Amino acid sequence: MPESAPAEQVFANARIVLADGEMTGHVHVSGGVIRAVDTGAVPAGAQDLEGDYLIPGLVELHTDHVEGHLAPRPKVRWNPLSAVLAYDAQIATSGITTVFDSLRVWPDKRAVGMDGDAPVLLEAFAAARAAGALRADHRVHLRCEVATDTVVEDTAAILAAHEVHLISLMDHTPGQRQFASTEHFRSYYKKKSGISDDELDVIVATRLDYHTRLSRPNRQGLVALAHPRGIVLASHDDATPEHVAEAIGDGLAIAEFPTTLEAARLSHEAGIRVLMGAPNLVRGGSHTGNASAEDLARRGLLDILSSDYVPASLLWAPFDLVRRVPAIPLAAALRLVTKNPADAAKLTDRGEIAPGKRADLVRVRLAGEVPVARAVWREGARVA
Ligand SMILES: [Fe+2]
Repeated sequence: MPESAPAEQVFANARIVLADGEMTGHVHVSGGVIRAVDTGAVPAGAQDLEGDYLIPGLVELHTDHVEGHLAPRPKVRWNPLSAVLAYDAQIATSGITTVFDSLRVWPDKRAVGMDGDAPVLLEAFAAARAAGALRADHRVHLRCEVATDTVVEDTAAILAAHEVHLISLMDHTPGQRQFASTEHFRSYYKKKSGISDDELDVIVATRLDYHTRLSRPNRQGLVALAHPRGIVLASHDDATPEHVAEAIGDGLAIAEFPTTLEAARLSHEAGIRVLMGAPNLVRGGSHTGNASAEDLARRGLLDILSSDYVPASLLWAPFDLVRRVPAIPLAAALRLVTKNPADAAKLTDRGEIAPGKRADLVRVRLAGEVPVARAVWREGARVA
């Protein structure tokens, strides 16, 4: 259970990373908010951070990591509340203070591994929040697969019961986007779920049929649900100029994991923020052979990093990026995991160390090339 915040505290002798640069000094916090960032004489009773970095708490927009805690083995279901608490602990110790829990709304029972557990997990998050047990600030990101038969009504049912902050529009139909070749789709699902070729034939045929009949109307239905509620919309795996034009037309704010340089460039130029995986960056490329996050960063087209499937990658990636691309200063690299995702999600109260912002802070020291989150505070309360 996280501790409550002291009335007042000062973090001194810190290498503070601001939105636009670095300074050595101290940070005053009270009431969960940053009050001042100073140099000079250190007030009595300050905590000595011993020259460690002090950076803003990380903001994560797209992680499906909780699902692995709910289903730790293919046929094992873990207690949902226990899964949420274990996931939350990993998120917080990774330096993430705001997280959009990405939950699948993939209501296709014939496609193995795609059944949605969103309502089960949402209940568990609500219970954890009510118990005051959560370390990070959790928000809701629904991943809506448009080429499925009941995604719009399933999403509407969730919206009626829970607050939702972000919706991404996905289409993992074989032959599209992430799965530009049907063979790639088949080998991915075969490896993941071990199903037979005959079963895969049925799944591929069903998905193609859904795509033809349902992708466009479902996408329009979801956009119509999101906009009046102020829910931020993201595209997913955009590959072509047509995909980007559709995203612009639908008023989308974020492009998740564009698979080509062309789609990333067109999105960025249109003011749609380009989000790429932090694992893609630290591993030196996409595990599915798509666009490289490092290449986009070098070209000035990368706006946001997301930990995707490894929470620890979000803190590692900005420190890794400045080593890979020395022209990018640390402050700019850290904006990819703090201010930029906060702005994209319309969270103007966090994402940088500045007076008036939430006291979401991480004390970081490097262990070789890997950064260690030595302490994490959310609204001034130590949470990890
Ligand atoms: Fe995808």
